[in-house]
Amino acid sequence: MPVIKRAIALFLFLALTACATTPQTNTTSETETPMATVGSEAQEQAEIPETITKTETPTTTSMLANEIVSITGQITANDTNAPIPHAFVQARNNKGMVITVLSNEEGDYQFTDLPAGRYSVSARGFGYARSLTEIVETEPSSPQSIPFKLTPDADIAAQVSGAEWLSLLPDGDETRQFILDCQGCHQLGWPRQAYNGWPTSSQWETSIKKMHGYYGPRSEFPIIGPMDIPRTAAWLAEYLTDEATPPQPLPISAAAQAMRLTEYDFPGVGPHDLVLDANGQVIVTGMFSDDMYVLIL
Ligand code: HEC
Repeated sequence: MPVIKRAIALFLFLALTACATTPQTNTTSETETPMATVGSEAQEQAEIPETITKTETPTTTSMLANEIVSITGQITANDTNAPIPHAFVQARNNKGMVITVLSNEEGDYQFTDLPAGRYSVSARGFGYARSLTEIVETEPSSPQSIPFKLTPDADIAAQVSGAEWLSLLPDGDETRQFILDCQGCHQLGWPRQAYNGWPTSSQWETSIKKMHGYYGPRSEFPIIGPMDIPRTAAWLAEYLTDEATPPQPLPISAAAQAMRLTEYDFPGVGPHDLVLDANGQVIVTGMFSDDMYVLIL
């Protein structure tokens, strides 16, 4: 369930609805997970001083000085050479860390303070196809420049977020109940992705029955309330069609342009809860499991 995992990781580390339909790309092939399990050897692992020292002295940069790198570049349109502002640029390293930044008004982006390593970098802008992925071996001494030229793509259906699709449902109790029942676990972009286009009424029905089996009132994990399934399926299919025009994303504010989103790959189904302990360590519990993890930053 990579999308679910990603959705929850986003929720935990920063809520950013614009990323809702980000396609999963195969980038750097091998992921060494940055999580250390706190299982039966939990106590021993938690006592390893190295982890604690690192988090206790985050401002002592001398030991990290050679390990910090940056990647910069400009995003332009390949037909007009015009700079593309507010493009999402994503860098994934071989430790399972994914960092996303936005390009500024001049189309420039920068990743600073990246841990040295092997990165795959890609870019996407609204109205453009996603770029190919570039692989970079970072060099501590000099910032690496990776420019991207994006190809215009007028078909925006795959580019808008689940939140934008959600706005096609009429405001009212039915939509609110749907959000309560269904949108806690995954966003609306996911059913569209799973069916490679909007599900038909009967496909919705099949999926909702499956959801009810997993999480309905009579399941062991009741999250979804009782529901008239055929009616809900028909209602969704009425508003969400491949002919429907999704609204364009809202403009990105100046404050949002400065965001830097960091995500971490997570073993198993995904993370559930997160707590910061007295030592500044991030402890995460697994989803549907009794596992606990320490996030090694
Ligand atoms: C408790 C979490 C949870 C809730 C609540 C939930 N889903 Fe899902 N949904 C999932 C998971 C997990 C999958 C992936 C299922 C799989 O791979 O078997 C999924 C997959 C889907 C899919 C993709 C196709 C499929 O059948 O796998 C659709 C469509 C879907 N859900 C619709 C809904 C609707 C509509 C609701 C509300 C009635 C809902 N979901 C509520 C977790 C949830």
